[in-house]
Amino acid sequence: MLDGFGRDVRYLRLSVTDKCNCRCVYCMPAGGVRLLRHEDLLSFEELAEIVAAAASLGVERVRITGGEPLVRRGIVDLVRMVAEVPGIREVDMTTNGTLLAPLARPLREAGLTRVNVSLDTLDPVLYRRITRTGELADALAGLRALDEAGFANTKLDCVLVGGLNDADVRPVAELARDRDLSVRFIELMRMGECAGWPTERFVPAEEVLRQLPELEPAGSQGVAELYRAPGWKGTVGLIRPVTHRFCAGCDRIRVSAEGRVKPCLHSAEEISLRGLHGDALVGALRRAILAKPARSHIDVDHASQSARGMSRIGG
Ligand code: 5AD
Ligand code: SF4
Repeated sequence: MLDGFGRDVRYLRLSVTDKCNCRCVYCMPAGGVRLLRHEDLLSFEELAEIVAAAASLGVERVRITGGEPLVRRGIVDLVRMVAEVPGIREVDMTTNGTLLAPLARPLREAGLTRVNVSLDTLDPVLYRRITRTGELADALAGLRALDEAGFANTKLDCVLVGGLNDADVRPVAELARDRDLSVRFIELMRMGECAGWPTERFVPAEEVLRQLPELEPAGSQGVAELYRAPGWKGTVGLIRPVTHRFCAGCDRIRVSAEGRVKPCLHSAEEISLRGLHGDALVGALRRAILAKPARSHIDVDHASQSARGMSRIGG
């Protein structure tokens, strides 16, 4: 369905939990956040009903996010339910990968199409510093399990944080040298935990091009500008929500784990879907699509107006 600015909304991001087994410094406080109670989470049936209602409006692609989606019990069954909704052609997931190793195969069998793994560094000590609780080896085992389970077009998402991982992006980028992998560098957005951080922490993705002069432009894919180095199998992508706004191409809506639809990641507006069924549910989703603003107003100095941190909406 077209929004008020002629953008065709075909993509739904579904957060299935606000819990996470990590505590990335830019996302969550060390002690964690106040969590939803289990009874406040949408049930699998409610989630599938929302996906079906969105599909009736033209949504074809669903991305399952969190928090960390793999901590939600029964996630494989949920993926199967979403994949079976008529009209849904693709079910993807964004995960930190640390719980993925034993789940990759069952997820693939349940109909998961593609996976994005969040990985900010290949240095185990720095990985622990950034995620606070995560183990690099677990994330790498998750990545390997994706290959073994037959997933293709895997993406690796690396958030650039000044003073933490920005000085040495080459090792992460080079994961795309010998494998058909898209390594994407994402500019840190001022929201939630990092909203008030000093400007030096917000590194323009241009820095990646400076450190990897061999990269050559290779088109674009969704919100990512792609680059390739001679001889590399995979690509390097830049996602620049801060320095290059890409709102004109925004084709998505987001639903939080407690059932609130967000027309824009960065606006405070939310519409509750709780308790809605049938035409009322479709109508609320239609209103959300029509409420999409032309653009967000975040930049290096201006924080997101969303009341949610990333762990409560999943990117
Ligand atoms: N800005 C940009 N990316 C973020 N993520 C979490 N918080 C932010 C932020 N403030 C990323 C995570 C993960 C994805 C879900 O969102 O690193 O890759
Ligand atoms: Fe968890 Fe992702 Fe937030 Fe890190 S960024 S704490 S992995 S939800």
